Amino acid sequence: MAWKKVADKGAVAAGKGKAFKVDGKQIAIFNQDGYHAMDDLCVHQDGSIAPGKLEGDIVECPLHFWHYNIKTGELTDYLKEVKLETYPVEARDDGIYIDI
Ligand code: FES
Repeated sequence: MAWKKVADKGAVAAGKGKAFKVDGKQIAIFNQDGYHAMDDLCVHQDGSIAPGKLEGDIVECPLHFWHYNIKTGELTDYLKEVKLETYPVEARDDGIYIDI
């Protein structure tokens, strides 16, 4: 694992998420109660989760409304024990970094 700069500071608005390509992977960064990072592709049909509606720690996939915890990556409905990978995030002076 290594820290990589993903975006400039301010690239993800408060209360929103945004998708970024990092090392060929699509990662969602959420700015909700601090920054959180997890794999962006929904296990249902590979929808991008990043633009989904956020309520507290839960994001709703915009395609068919499956829900994930943005801090743990866990799918909270439909299937048990499904978890997207999450990554440590740091907001530094020059941007947002994740350990990937
Ligand atoms: S692709 Fe996410 S709920 Fe269907």
